[in-house]
Amino acid sequence: MGWQDKLFGGLRRLPFLAASPMAEAAALARADHHRHGRQPRVFDDPCALTLVNPAYRLLVRPRLGALAGRLSGFHRTFLAGAATTLVRSRYTEDLLATAARAQGLDQYVILGAGLDSFAWRRPPALDAVQVFEVDLPAVLADKTARARRAGLPTPQRRTPVPLDLSTPERLPAALRAAGFDAARPALFAWLGVAYYLAPEACSRLIAAVGQCAAPGSHFTLDVLAAGAFAQPRLPQLLARTRLMAHLFGESLPGGLLLEQLAPPLAQAGFDPAECLGPDALTARYLAGREDLREVLPHLHLMHALRPVP
Ligand SMILES: C[S@@+](CC[C@H](N)C(=O)[O-])C[C@H]1O[C@@H](n2cnc3c(N)ncnc32)[C@H](O)[C@@H]1O
Repeated sequence: MGWQDKLFGGLRRLPFLAASPMAEAAALARADHHRHGRQPRVFDDPCALTLVNPAYRLLVRPRLGALAGRLSGFHRTFLAGAATTLVRSRYTEDLLATAARAQGLDQYVILGAGLDSFAWRRPPALDAVQVFEVDLPAVLADKTARARRAGLPTPQRRTPVPLDLSTPERLPAALRAAGFDAARPALFAWLGVAYYLAPEACSRLIAAVGQCAAPGSHFTLDVLAAGAFAQPRLPQLLARTRLMAHLFGESLPGGLLLEQLAPPLAQAGFDPAECLGPDALTARYLAGREDLREVLPHLHLMHALRPVP
């Protein structure tokens, strides 16, 4: 064990750290954008600041986070990671709104929900949507406790589903026990989570999602393309993201690569509907912005669809 591991191993035990530091980082990015992002915002999450650990709220309020990032050389990583977080949520919630309107879809399964606050800030048009939040038991318990302490109301139609996704075979039973109806279409979102699982566990998770997905279901997920690793040097931004996650105790084995996704998706009964790479995502959501200029390199956002026969 190196000195960094010893130092950060100690830090991880301190009470100001979240059960999932990377979920905390994603919520911080949403909170920072809500408070300081240029209009029109890429994605607006007015609840994020309430859900982040109070110790970190200080980073967002006076923009200390941005200052610390500049000083440490991590500023570009922070901004690209923040843009990625915002863009993937925007894409998914736009899709949810469209599917709810067009198909009457009313089940939303967030795999690796972290501090996602959709259940608290949903627009009235999505009132009927039942939200199933799947994450590690400690992460969900911590989130529910934070919401209670912050005085957020208990949201209607939010069901926590505590589950370790590295054993994805348990997903169908866990969802069923939580009231999920596998005979009706749903939107499954798997955002910022694939990197936490080994490639083989990712394939098994896709198969498990396929078992729960009725025709007309949607699946959104973000993955990296092989180019991220084929270059002579792993791009600096990705390497730093991995280093930060590692230091705070979360390993990012990297998940499935874009090029490996087609077979497990097809076996699970999903057809690819759309796949947007970094240039397309930047053009669609970040064009002309000065506060956020790029998503993480080699990032791809995939929308797959279970066709109606
Ligand atoms: C980077 S966060 C993303 C959270 C959320 N999707 C978002 O975009 O804000 C990754 C999430 O995956 C969850 N996660 C990681 N490994 C997991 C596992 N084996 N089972 C369940 N959840 C897991 C973490 O607890 C964390 O909440």
